[in-house]
Amino acid sequence: MKSHQTIKSRTSFITVVDDVVIKKMRDIENAPDEAERLKRLGSLLKEERDTDGWRYNCAKLLKVELATGRLFMTRASGISLAQELSASRAYRAGRWLAAFQEGGRTSDGRVPVFGDFGPNHVFIDGTSKAVTVIDPGVEIGTRGSIETDVGYMLSSLVLYSLRRRRNPWRIGRAFVDGVITSRAGSIRRQRLREVLSDTRRQTERRWKRKLPYGSAVFAIVPYRIIDRFVTASLLWTLSFSELSSDERSMPTDVN
Ligand SMILES: Nc1ncnc2c1ncn2[C@@H]1O[C@H](COP(=O)(O)OP(=O)(O)OP(=O)(O)O)[C@@H](O)[C@H]1O
Ligand SMILES: [Mg+2]
Repeated sequence: MKSHQTIKSRTSFITVVDDVVIKKMRDIENAPDEAERLKRLGSLLKEERDTDGWRYNCAKLLKVELATGRLFMTRASGISLAQELSASRAYRAGRWLAAFQEGGRTSDGRVPVFGDFGPNHVFIDGTSKAVTVIDPGVEIGTRGSIETDVGYMLSSLVLYSLRRRRNPWRIGRAFVDGVITSRAGSIRRQRLREVLSDTRRQTERRWKRKLPYGSAVFAIVPYRIIDRFVTASLLWTLSFSELSSDERSMPTDVN
């Protein structure tokens, strides 16, 4: 057994031991809910295989140790979209979301919500052609609109792209292409616009809490302008696309 690294987050300590990940909750009382969310994700996502051979999975709960607040789960293969951001990888995150949503679509057109669908929770392994998603949010399994998770990811992708000096339009567009390729439902622009502005407000609130006043203003003003501009122009391209077309092809920078 070899321990690779320990990642500290606000709510947990993550240790990777070979192919197992141990998540120790800082507050051990949170372990049962955390385990429940992972189980719910597992039951919602039937391992899906795409027509081009890619597989869409999630981290699987192996064991919960209530006394120590530790969860044992399978390790996601590959690296997260946050660690390596590219259009083809963003496209795969979109394909994963489409598989997850379509697998649980109800007769009234609603889909299961993931809840915290950000680039740090989507692992992509180009070698074994697998996408594995970790750490569902508190909303996991509730039924909602397609745009809830799409908007959250899109907003995070714009932010990550700007930080990493990547092209936010290309990355955002590739993700949306993944979501809308060969699926039943299409994206509603108005609903997506609402989710995007809610997410922008949450990001700004978080920065205001975290940063000193001067830096918060310095960060928020350009972010608000750029994010609005990027997301508005992305939404504009949606109005000219066949939203449920399955003829859209994958971006070329495959890795
Ligand atoms: N099953 C897993 N496979 C591979 N890496 C993992 C796994 N679970 C967690 N990690 C790594 O640990 C990081 C934090 O994990 P996770 O998101 O579950 O914890 P968290 O406490 O919710 O942290 P955050 O608040 O940053 O989201 C992930 O971004 C990922 O790099
Ligand atoms: Mg997390």
